[in-house]
Amino acid sequence: MKAIRPRVDYLKEPLGLGDPSPEFAWNCEGGLKQTAYQIIASSGNETIWNSGKVLSSSMTHIAYGGRKLKSRERVFWRVKLWDENGNGGEVSESFFEMGLLDASDWKAKWITGDYKPNTKLRYPVDCFKKEFKAQKKVAYARLYASSRGVYDVTINGHRLEDFILAPGMTDYRKRIQYQTYDVTKLIAHNNVLELRLADGWYRGSSAAYGVTNVYGTQTSVIAQLEITFEDGSVNTICTDDTWTWSNDGPIRFADLKDGEIYDATKVPSYNGKAKTIPGPKNIPLVASDNVPVLEKERFEAKLLPGNVLDFGQNIAGYLEFTVNGKPGQELKLRCGEILDDNGNVDLSGIQEARPVKGWSQMGLIKKLMTGKVDGEAVGSPLQEIVFTCSGGEDHYKTSFAVFGFRYVQIETDVAFDPANFTAIAVYSDMEQTGEFACSNELVNKLLQNTRWSMKGNYLDLPTDCPTRERLGWTGDAQVFFDTGAYLMDTAAFFRKWLVDMEDAQNKNGVLPAVLPYQGVDMMYNATGVSVGWADAVYLVPYRYYKRFGDKAVLERSWPMMKKYADYVMTHLGHSDKKEAKANPYNAYTYEKGMHLGEWLEPAQFQEKITAGKRPKHPEEATAYLHLTMKTMAEIADILGKAEDKATFIKIAEGSKKAYDHLIIKAGLLDTDRQAKLVRPLALGLLDGETKKQAQERLVKAVKNFDYCVGTGFLSTVFLLPVLTEAGEIETAYKMLENTQKPSWLGEVVDGATTVWENWDGTASRNHYSPGAVCQWLFDTVAGIRVSGENRFRIAPVPGGTLTYAKASYCSPYGFVESDWEKTESGIEFTISIPANTTAEVVLPNGDRRILGAGQHKLS
Ligand code: BGC
Repeated sequence: MKAIRPRVDYLKEPLGLGDPSPEFAWNCEGGLKQTAYQIIASSGNETIWNSGKVLSSSMTHIAYGGRKLKSRERVFWRVKLWDENGNGGEVSESFFEMGLLDASDWKAKWITGDYKPNTKLRYPVDCFKKEFKAQKKVAYARLYASSRGVYDVTINGHRLEDFILAPGMTDYRKRIQYQTYDVTKLIAHNNVLELRLADGWYRGSSAAYGVTNVYGTQTSVIAQLEITFEDGSVNTICTDDTWTWSNDGPIRFADLKDGEIYDATKVPSYNGKAKTIPGPKNIPLVASDNVPVLEKERFEAKLLPGNVLDFGQNIAGYLEFTVNGKPGQELKLRCGEILDDNGNVDLSGIQEARPVKGWSQMGLIKKLMTGKVDGEAVGSPLQEIVFTCSGGEDHYKTSFAVFGFRYVQIETDVAFDPANFTAIAVYSDMEQTGEFACSNELVNKLLQNTRWSMKGNYLDLPTDCPTRERLGWTGDAQVFFDTGAYLMDTAAFFRKWLVDMEDAQNKNGVLPAVLPYQGVDMMYNATGVSVGWADAVYLVPYRYYKRFGDKAVLERSWPMMKKYADYVMTHLGHSDKKEAKANPYNAYTYEKGMHLGEWLEPAQFQEKITAGKRPKHPEEATAYLHLTMKTMAEIADILGKAEDKATFIKIAEGSKKAYDHLIIKAGLLDTDRQAKLVRPLALGLLDGETKKQAQERLVKAVKNFDYCVGTGFLSTVFLLPVLTEAGEIETAYKMLENTQKPSWLGEVVDGATTVWENWDGTASRNHYSPGAVCQWLFDTVAGIRVSGENRFRIAPVPGGTLTYAKASYCSPYGFVESDWEKTESGIEFTISIPANTTAEVVLPNGDRRILGAGQHKLS
């Protein structure tokens, strides 16, 4: 038996790890059961940890147990496994390298451009340069770098592309990530090291309204190049005031959302000097122990009338092109997700108006209240590139912007060849873990679209859309968490985001509705308590634990969850005194605060909002109170916190009674509004006869709506699971396969290549949340679920028009497959279970068995 897919902190051979106590993980190959493992870790000639032979079947979360790890240390680790017969197998080898663990490791200084920024203006990209010689033979070289802004590095003309839009996104007031680059091969005798610095999340436009200067007005960068020679000596090149600087290079403007203005006639003169400035005070530079953001798939264009390039796939990414124009000739490129009726790129569904001059919280409040902007307005985002030709062959690739787009409209009199234009997808480099295919091609396309929406929205943080807002909306991340975890390996990505969540928590326990922080406090703080959104604080760590078995993450998140739960517990009861008095379960009813409700139901089901009156949402809030308190009770149990468990159980039970009083006894379950039935069924608020009635009423509501999707943002993910639990499998399949809108496949038939925010496609075209239905393809159609350490439950549920379905999932415990096919003699199931795991297999006829590693054919 051999260890495969060795990982450290979920990462493959990480460089610059910041975690002082890393965890090892692997999967097994060959044999049935791992009976023991041994890990030997070494640094140079020193064995720094020998676990000895540990009798255990665990292959995840094996904590490093050696001496304290040092900065820069490269650790080789070998793991040997013993199988069920006690035979030791072939040793697997891997490594990781530590980053700069102490603040004192940083000798470099923060540098900035030599100008005094004015908050009302935008500035060209800063260019910094240092020339140096490497006098001896290089053994290895590492570059450590970070910025307040976004930076890139070029060594001897070679741009490092190991992390696009570095240093990535965190709350820059709380912690800033740095990257570690292996640059050994790039160091020559004479060297030129160049840094570029743009506004990024720090100073650039942010959120729907394009507010700027969210974190600061002055951008800065820090870099430390450490060259170790073969004789063991080290030369360290640090950013300081010996670097030259200018901002007269080709990138005249760069903004993550708005785009770039690029003048190819310009080259940086470096005729100024870098200024050193104080580093961020009490804000740690932390290693980005996450998968890097990389350039991924590339797309060629088809030319449509009106100089529109169609890349065939809606993505988040940017452009590369080659043109040959006269000096000073311009190309203006607008990137968008859709075309209007005249075939022009249309940004109207993803743009909000913002004033040309100035923008304040008050200005924003006014705009929200009146829908109007004072003075001249411009749309946000612009998603535009303005390119000026140099007169020869020019090559351009976007450096500091990302757009949500499929189409690019080019305004120019330069003759161009569409074959010279490429769209490049950019996102966090998560390994693709889930595959699904079935006999309905539209369903297959839905799955691909959902994965593309995930790719379009997982760029160092999970966002709602890559266009209008690009914000880490808690609700979106929560709704999609499990679907995403099937599709790609999100373990490192969400571990990072859970730290962002800690950073975002207010003193009173409340989380803003978007995180990391992106300005516009009043809006995100006010909606921060909204059930379904705020509840990400419990649901993401909980589901993370269930999926990845990571108790350390759950433990780390506990104080944050508890603090929010404490806040909620002091805000129970009706806000209206009369209502409070009339409700015997007032203490367990929840409605205070600003709740968004179900959000985005089809128009006919939406509540009428009377001017100036914000609807209260006791139904949604009390239902989620029940779910989250139940979840907290379970977490308290896992973490051995008996007293907390009792408290949470009490509230969970009370809220169920409150819901019964408020909704069920009040007769509100007799409705065609699907969300009102799905929610109590999904969140465990109904029992016995009431539950049965609600299930039947839901089926009636679904039929009355022609099997179309009537739920909104929160309940769409629960719709098919609830129907499945009710035994209404064919109804569930009919909804899944329905092409009449609103439906998942309606937009596929309409040519969608990603998932749309609303069913008619008039808003963002890259909102993954409705794609959360794909969870059902994995956990129900194919029936693959992780049910604990080294354990699966596989319970496929054939149905609908499907004649076959095949799914695979590279889970934390190995590669599992579940296929079924309808044949003349019945349904044949093929199930593959990885080494060192077992699966409880349940077939539709009720047959139940425990199977071990290997491929199993069943019928
Ligand atoms: C976002 C959503 C988000 C919602 C919350 C929208 O503008 O795009 O996905 O969850 O706001 O109100």
